[in-house]
Amino acid sequence: MPALPTSLWSSVARKALMALTGLALIGFLAVHLLGNLILLTGNADAFNLYSNIYASMGSFLYVIEAGLVAFFLIHIVSGVTVALGKMKARPVSYEKTANAGGPSRKTISSTTMIYTGIIVLAFLVFHVTTLKYGAHYETTIHGEKMRDLHKLIIENFAQPGIVVTYVLTMLLLGFHLRHGFWSAFQSLGALQPRLSGLIYTIGVLIAIILAVGFLFIPLWIFLTA
Ligand code: HEM
Repeated sequence: MPALPTSLWSSVARKALMALTGLALIGFLAVHLLGNLILLTGNADAFNLYSNIYASMGSFLYVIEAGLVAFFLIHIVSGVTVALGKMKARPVSYEKTANAGGPSRKTISSTTMIYTGIIVLAFLVFHVTTLKYGAHYETTIHGEKMRDLHKLIIENFAQPGIVVTYVLTMLLLGFHLRHGFWSAFQSLGALQPRLSGLIYTIGVLIAIILAVGFLFIPLWIFLTA
């Protein structure tokens, strides 16, 4: 059997890592959205009780968070190096950037993955510093003192600039996921041609549900709280 060149191995390996971590991060987003939907009920205690479940996990939370950070880092590093590798291989981009259709699935989503990814990363830094490491208000529920994250979120989503930032970034996240979900299956070699259309449609649905779900929350709070 002829040996495969090392560069091919590494590029294939990096694509597979990007795909696996991307799919795991979509799983994280789905769980994160489900929890955050409690905000739509307007029940501050319910949301604070939910978000404090994580705080009460103690050192196990650090394990989960370390895993999450590792997944984000692997996804970003493999994504950026794969994109740089493509640019190096083809320094002058093709003139035709319109939807190529068919099996290539070339769309505005696929050609802007690196840019939408970088913007979502910048959002993530802003998001985690303003909420996770933001003001530490306290509340008491059933005699137990805990962090009042609900108050901090309501304060944040009362600011038009923050709401616009969330809405625009979530639209870009939607574009990123729309191509990313299908592309992950493609990179893992798990796409038989007859399944390609179905996986693409599922990816589009997941992208719409996550993007609309996440952008609706700040909009709803801004308009109703
Ligand atoms: C309506 C939109 C969102 C709301 C209300 C929201 C809410 C929150 C809150 C309250 C925390 C802090 C949790 C804690 O300190 O225990 C948090 C953390 C976090 N959020 Fe979001 N989030 C939203 C969208 C997103 C999106 C779109 C992403 C990813 C692209 C994201 C990724 C994260 C990450 C990675 C953390 C840190 C998790 C940890 O280390 O425990 N969030 N979010």
